Amino acid sequence: MEEIRGRIIGSGFTGELRLDEPLAGHTSLRVGGPASLFALPAGVGDLVLILALLAGEKVPWMVLGGGTNVVFADEGYHGCVIHLSREVRGWGGIRRDKEMLEAGAAALMPNVVSRAAREGLAGLECLADIPGTVGGALRMNAGTRSGQMADVVEQVRLLEGTGDSDGGGQGARWVPGSGIGFAYRSSGLTAGQIVLAVRFRLKPDDPDAVRARVTEQARLRRKSQPLGAASAGCWFKNPAGDSAGRLIDAAGLIGMTCGGARVSDVHANFLVNTGSATAADFLELAEMVRQGVRERFGIELEDEVRVIHG
Ligand code: EPU
Repeated sequence: MEEIRGRIIGSGFTGELRLDEPLAGHTSLRVGGPASLFALPAGVGDLVLILALLAGEKVPWMVLGGGTNVVFADEGYHGCVIHLSREVRGWGGIRRDKEMLEAGAAALMPNVVSRAAREGLAGLECLADIPGTVGGALRMNAGTRSGQMADVVEQVRLLEGTGDSDGGGQGARWVPGSGIGFAYRSSGLTAGQIVLAVRFRLKPDDPDAVRARVTEQARLRRKSQPLGAASAGCWFKNPAGDSAGRLIDAAGLIGMTCGGARVSDVHANFLVNTGSATAADFLELAEMVRQGVRERFGIELEDEVRVIHG
């Protein structure tokens, strides 16, 4: 990978390129081995450059957002992990445009939610206290029982990861939210499509009223979920008409552990790192939970978290 790194630098890439970057520190679960290459592009030009080079060298790549819904294997990722830095102009920013907020993909969701409250713009309250970045939340259609990204996304700025450049626009274009193919905790985006920014369609309201709803939503979440523990949020998707947390709890699996991974006592759909867990501990615990629910209820739980092998 060192050679490829050299070639990327030689092509005029001005961002940062790290070899064997430990991924545990980039995820909320705090597990996972190293990425062979970890790239922090300095702008869209860099992104286009590196995508073209990686495609040419046949190096697998992926974009990592806030790392709050992802599990990297202990063996790490044999390819290039691309991270859009909040420091880059446009990627970390949030700006108001009439009744819309436009946020860069690297902006943090909690900052977008509080900015909307400050501006007196309603619509994002349902996403209060969801960690992670705008890009990650968009790709996963993050949400709660009261709403999801799909409900508030007007437009998404996408870059096709082919490395093709159309000159001025560098391959990036705005697409309507209705064209994203959102479903429950998923979007129809392909692995090659990179989210650069999102425009949220909001409604003017009294800032205090918006703030009060944000506070209430956050209070409810903090009461029912172990937000202080290292986790990836809900591990499993809810099966139709039921709650994975309720099923895991009713199957008597709360408190079950595997190495340093444990089924949370606060919310059974949260698998938490008690301090020394490995990715293997989490993957094994998830299988134990899946099996327990299957045996007790005949229901097959599906991962909500993205598990990345290799
Ligand atoms: N329940 C239990 N035991 C538990 C957990 C829940 O009995 O350990 C019961 C609750 O008492 C309640 C029912 O199950 O009667 C539903 O629980 P909750 O309201 O916590 O909702 P959920 O279906 O478990 C969903 C989302 C959460 C979101 C909450 C609140 C999924 C997989 N989970 O959880 O999203 O925060 O609603 O809106 O869709 C996430 O996606 O990462 C996530 C945390």
